[in-house]
Amino acid sequence: MTMDKFLVPAVAKPLDGEVEIAGAKNAVLAIMPAALLADGISEISNVPHLKDMKTMSDVLRIIGCRIDGENHKLRIDTRGANHLEAPYELVKTMRASFYVLGPLVARFGRCRVSLPGGCAWGPRPIDLHLKGLEALGAKINITHGYVEATCEGRLKGGTFHFPISSVGATVNLLLAATLAEGESILQNAAIEPEIDNLVDYLISMGAKIQGRGTRTLIIQGVESLTPGKGETIADRIEAGTFLCGAVITRGRVKVTHMVPEHIMSVLNVFKEIGCDVAIGDSWVEVDARNKSLKPISVTTLPYPGFPTDLQAPLMATLASIEGNSLIQDTIYHDRFTHIAELKRLGADIQLNGNTATIIGGKSLEGADVMASDLRASAALVLSGLIAEGETTISRIYHLDRGYEDFEAKMAKLGATVSRIRPELA
Ligand code: UD1
Repeated sequence: MTMDKFLVPAVAKPLDGEVEIAGAKNAVLAIMPAALLADGISEISNVPHLKDMKTMSDVLRIIGCRIDGENHKLRIDTRGANHLEAPYELVKTMRASFYVLGPLVARFGRCRVSLPGGCAWGPRPIDLHLKGLEALGAKINITHGYVEATCEGRLKGGTFHFPISSVGATVNLLLAATLAEGESILQNAAIEPEIDNLVDYLISMGAKIQGRGTRTLIIQGVESLTPGKGETIADRIEAGTFLCGAVITRGRVKVTHMVPEHIMSVLNVFKEIGCDVAIGDSWVEVDARNKSLKPISVTTLPYPGFPTDLQAPLMATLASIEGNSLIQDTIYHDRFTHIAELKRLGADIQLNGNTATIIGGKSLEGADVMASDLRASAALVLSGLIAEGETTISRIYHLDRGYEDFEAKMAKLGATVSRIRPELA
């Protein structure tokens, strides 16, 4: 883990320009474990260069896979996969490592995966992953901090109703159900675009899945799958973050190589604030120049609602708009560690339960702040862009998990965000 920091100098000019959006980290994290379902070499393209991709590669390597790649392509060779375990050292650093549970038990009949533990913004349980796998006939035993899943012969198709929408549990069950014996029905499944991307990839492997894009997925299990090939969709959260940059600096940003439909809820928020939003086939431009912007009320919800992953960047943005805005996070009630840091920059934000009141329009002053998670770090950079004086953001290894070439992209938009290495600091 590097202890790099970001230095954001005194008040930057409004962002102005165009950035290309990378492949979606969360889609790749779901697709990489899919390779475990087949014997051979699977390929994934449009893979971002990110720390999380390396962590998932390390998990697959421990299992026995060989992984290589260049030019945003990954090849995963599963022919040596025989060590059916994901250790605590990796799962604790990235929860999505837990996705190997479903495919391993489905294909090999047993595996051992460390419990993920909590994270900076709450307990983040995995009960639905486990109950869902049990509904498909897996025996689950938790011992010494590890989940052991076993089944005799193949998993058995079953029906599982998700009491709440869960992206991760939908991924794990979908992966497992493709190789189960008979039909599985996943009710109230998550419909995030990353799930559709995974479904397409699994279909490329020979999986039989109906209901793509709906809350009911019907999977006819097959005896075996062949290696997959497919392209990752664009990262809607990265796109939303740069567009927040346009708004907070009262500039103009065009994001390209993305799917506008995936961020409609976000674009509606920008329109409601008072920005101009132009939408093309694979691009979006948000123009906040010379606009008088209005405060708003936003609630995070499962897709197609406003994503919790943009809650922190939006909060930083709303703090720049005169008047009182409200943000309620209904997905993660404790995902507010960024508030204390935004306040260090001079923002006025009050938290009551899972609702933050942002008393916007206060002028910000640069300070030393600390990133507590991936999206919180993006929020701090955005606020740093409009703060008077220098802002130094530490622990940006969080940001490196989810934003490829962040400083270069910011530079393309006209902002100076410099990385300071400890030995140079
Ligand atoms: C994924 C995303 C994350 C995003 C989140 C919500 C990845 C790698 N991560 O996380 O960036 O913020 O979706 O869009 O794709 N829950 C349970 N029991 C479970 C599982 C989840 O109670 O077994 C709850 C969670 O605590 C949360 C809600 O369900 O309140 C939604 O979580 P979920 O969709 O599972 O989030 P992740 O898959 O962990």
